[in-house]
Amino acid sequence: MSYPYQIKSLEAYHEAYKQSVETPDNFWGDIASHFFWRRKWDSVLEWNFTEPKVEWFKGARLNITENCLDRHLDTLANRPAIIWEPNDPAEHHRVLTYKDLHYKVCQFANVLKNNGVKKGDRVCIYMGMIPELAIAVLACARIGAIHSVIFGGFSAQSIADRLIDANAEYIVTCDGAFRGQKDIPLKSVIDDALIGCRFVKRVIVCTRTRTPVSMIKGRDVWWEDEIKKIETLGMTTCPAEEMDAEDPLFILYTSGSTGKPKGVVHACAGYMIYTNYTFVNVFQYKPGDIHFCTADIGWITGHSYIVYGPLSAGATTLMFEGVPTWPDAGRFWEIVDKYKVNILYTAPTAIRSLMGFGLGPLQGKKLSSLKVLGTVGEPINEEAWHWYDEHVGKKKCPIVDTWWQTETGGMLISNMAGITPSRPGWATLPLPGVQPLLVDENGKEITEADEDGVFKGNLCIQAPWPATIRTTYGDHERCRKNYFSTYPNLYFTGDGALKDKDGNYRITGRVDDVLNVSGHRIGTAEVENAINMHAGVVESAVVGYPHEIKGQGIYAYVISQTTHGDESLIRKDILQTVTRIIGPIAKPDKIQFVKGLPKTRSGKIMRRILRKIAEGETENLGDTSTLLDPGVVDDIKSGKV
Ligand code: WTA
Repeated sequence: MSYPYQIKSLEAYHEAYKQSVETPDNFWGDIASHFFWRRKWDSVLEWNFTEPKVEWFKGARLNITENCLDRHLDTLANRPAIIWEPNDPAEHHRVLTYKDLHYKVCQFANVLKNNGVKKGDRVCIYMGMIPELAIAVLACARIGAIHSVIFGGFSAQSIADRLIDANAEYIVTCDGAFRGQKDIPLKSVIDDALIGCRFVKRVIVCTRTRTPVSMIKGRDVWWEDEIKKIETLGMTTCPAEEMDAEDPLFILYTSGSTGKPKGVVHACAGYMIYTNYTFVNVFQYKPGDIHFCTADIGWITGHSYIVYGPLSAGATTLMFEGVPTWPDAGRFWEIVDKYKVNILYTAPTAIRSLMGFGLGPLQGKKLSSLKVLGTVGEPINEEAWHWYDEHVGKKKCPIVDTWWQTETGGMLISNMAGITPSRPGWATLPLPGVQPLLVDENGKEITEADEDGVFKGNLCIQAPWPATIRTTYGDHERCRKNYFSTYPNLYFTGDGALKDKDGNYRITGRVDDVLNVSGHRIGTAEVENAINMHAGVVESAVVGYPHEIKGQGIYAYVISQTTHGDESLIRKDILQTVTRIIGPIAKPDKIQFVKGLPKTRSGKIMRRILRKIAEGETENLGDTSTLLDPGVVDDIKSGKV
């Protein structure tokens, strides 16, 4: 596998960038010509951001799995596609070559078909990080079913909401999942979710933990039994379904500033080209390199940089089932040495948490195979950046700080390893094809820099890149409203950013009501809804505050009805409620009981004030004169937790 579109110098980057902006059709058309198509496109790009309509490679026909698997079989059949490291280091690891993976994907694709799954059907996947998760994802793509992977940390209620929104009639899950010392009963969570989802026709359960599960006759089947059936039927191949370039490939739910998660939809062709292009260029992948992305496939990072980006590039991708701190905080480093990992891609929150263990866990670890380091998910503080650089990269590995979102499908702003300069805390330059713009509240371009020559504004993108969000599932208007209506003719990211005079960007964080907790996106409205479901709660307001390890912590102000009883007990009840409604990732770190919330005369909660108090600011709370009852502020200040 060679990558003729891999950028090899700073000049080449500038040249590619220029071309991508001046002649995007030629630029992306050339790149796309290196992929396998059943039919070539009629036009490269048609778009407007008002509807919005974004169509890449219109008229083309393809299947992404032919690009991720079949096309490598002639030359890379015996190259490892997936290396899997189990949770427990004592258990044997697994290696799936391209030939193995192709075989298993076809096999499971036949299982899906045999269970009634057809092109366009939605399949929900709720599994731990085992190779079968990647196999299930690819098997859906093989037959044109739309996968919707749900992260294993979401609750039954969250799963039910997503199943209903996507009208998903098929589920693939596991009996349970191992994560560190925990054994998460996935099937049992699914059973709870299905109480309110009678439309689900089939649940395919893969064995992993051997946790006892209840299998409902007529609905639930074992993965392993279904594979045997396929073998008995002699079905060993599975032709790939021919898809339209713009057919949906998957739905992935993500939090926004409103109470309900949105089903972000990506399309087959554009997503494939863009994840491949960014994978090859940002990490400067060389054939044979071992790529280790520590994300979970339940998040977009896992979709794009464990599965589709690497596999479409014929790369070797490492999947890790466990957590960085078990059996000890040296686990990542052990894995790096064990498999001679060349590229390590992780989240700032993981780096900060490992920093907390000191240098002990790094002792005796060589880490000499590492060539490139990457971060994603949240702004990286300089201290963590330098620690990563010194102690992991030994000052010889470029660090790529990749900024992007579920909605962008792939990285948009990032340095390219060893090609464009890195700078601590800065995502740096836009990738080819990406045209950022900083605007003020009214959508006017920021043209005035501060005294240091830095521009500051809300980050927008001016034109589509191939992996632009296409729609929010079942509700196109919601997509328009959320991303394309704040500022006319711009995609609004929800992030704030700085830009220096050389065009480098630093992402400062969300400017909407979305929190970034350990790199996970959580809408404050969602957490409030969950807290408010607790019987003793009258009203609540949730804001973020700086957290040493998580980046942001969740701070909840709660008006409770209960005048008697133990506050600590109510606190625990609220945590339990949030865990049930959303999942443990959304549990508030701090809960403060208050008598009232600061509201304007029109009844709007002034979050700005609550945010400041949560951050520890007591003096400069800004203008409080518009408050209905300024007295509540003193009350809240005095009760800060
Ligand atoms: C934040 C994850 C600073 C940002 C791929 C964005 C970042 C949100 C970075 C998307 C980065 C992601 N520097 N902030 N390198 N990468 N973010 O959808 O606020 O889970 O809007 O996608 O994470 O989170 P999501």
